[in-house]
Amino acid sequence: MSETLPVELDFLAILKCPISGNELHELSPLEIEALNEEIGNNSLYNYEGSAVTQPLERALTSSCGRYFFRIQEGVLILLKNLSMVREMDLNREEMSSGLMSDKKAVQDFYDQFGWKKTEEGVFNDGDEFEDLREVSQQYMYDCNMRVKRYLRPAGEYLLDAASGPIQFEEYLEYNKDYKYRICVDLSFLALRQAREKLGNRGIYLVADITNLPIKDGTIDAVVSLNTIYHITRDEQAEALRQMYRVLKEDATGIVVYSWGRRSYLNNFLALPHKITRKLKAIYRTRVHTSREHPELYFHAHDRDYFSPERLGFEMDLSVWRLISVPVMKYYIHKWLAGKALLKAIYRLEDRAPQWCGRVGEYPMFVMRKHVEVKREEAERREAVAAG
Ligand SMILES: C[S@@+](CC[C@H](N)C(=O)[O-])C[C@H]1O[C@@H](n2cnc3c(N)ncnc32)[C@H](O)[C@@H]1O
Repeated sequence: MSETLPVELDFLAILKCPISGNELHELSPLEIEALNEEIGNNSLYNYEGSAVTQPLERALTSSCGRYFFRIQEGVLILLKNLSMVREMDLNREEMSSGLMSDKKAVQDFYDQFGWKKTEEGVFNDGDEFEDLREVSQQYMYDCNMRVKRYLRPAGEYLLDAASGPIQFEEYLEYNKDYKYRICVDLSFLALRQAREKLGNRGIYLVADITNLPIKDGTIDAVVSLNTIYHITRDEQAEALRQMYRVLKEDATGIVVYSWGRRSYLNNFLALPHKITRKLKAIYRTRVHTSREHPELYFHAHDRDYFSPERLGFEMDLSVWRLISVPVMKYYIHKWLAGKALLKAIYRLEDRAPQWCGRVGEYPMFVMRKHVEVKREEAERREAVAAG
């Protein structure tokens, strides 16, 4: 199926090897044939040490010639742990570490549950964590479109860091006037489905957003929606630094975060819902419980975590959505003027974005790589790197 990928990978110049940081180039058909012979002889290894068994159709290699990366169904597998090496390049110390267990758990959650579809044809992730009711649709759409206001309207590359399958149609509006949308995700299943929507206007990378295989200063706009809090608590800042690193000068990145239980407004609004649930549980009435699925890592930092001292650059605080999904499902109903209420909430978010971003459920961070503050930030980053 890799024939859906352009014959010439004209975007390879902006990618880099996730292990060595070197240039990447595609192997010729003759080189692929030779590697497939090595696979037949059990002499090509996965980074984690087992012999590669599946022959290659297309593949990339780093310019040092030590690491190989499979291209499967139009998706470039640029994850260190899924790279391939010869015996002499096996790193026995690192081999045993594998993909960190919490990342593997996130990957499994999405490959085995989140990005599979329900009988009604919606993604389990949306069904479980979003409000897909008709009464909320316009509000959800408007909040998703709010992101676009901050992005360069057109350009060459828009990076979607942890794109999932591009689950909502309006997400496609972000890259309407871009040459390519680069979809990066740990989930192969997500990227296969993203490719069905975007085709040759997408570049699909199974990669880790805390180690983006993309060169510095090459990207016109970055979006990262609803993901950073699924990254281990110590690595969230690194994911943001990586996004900033790849932005071109004067370009903007948008990151939608969740304050989780730190949103006092939502804690307060959700109180009646929680009490009702408790009472129902006590009186053994049927309580709606979510379906069985693997655990999903979640950690919400407070605002101090996102300081320029830690990140090496400043981010503005704005709002994506003020209220959480459980709060929406509890208070917003068609028969209770739900649509009008959501319209009013949307207007409030637009009038007081910083306040709503601070107290609400989903803040939106805006990072801008300004030319005039570049030197200052470089100094700050150097200071951060020096500890
Ligand atoms: C809640 S979904 C959000 C997807 C999409 N941004 C959206 O708003 O619909 C989180 C996504 O992040 C991906 N993800 C989590 N950690 C990642 C990492 N370290 N690198 C790349 N993708 C990651 C998951 O595989 C999943 O597809």
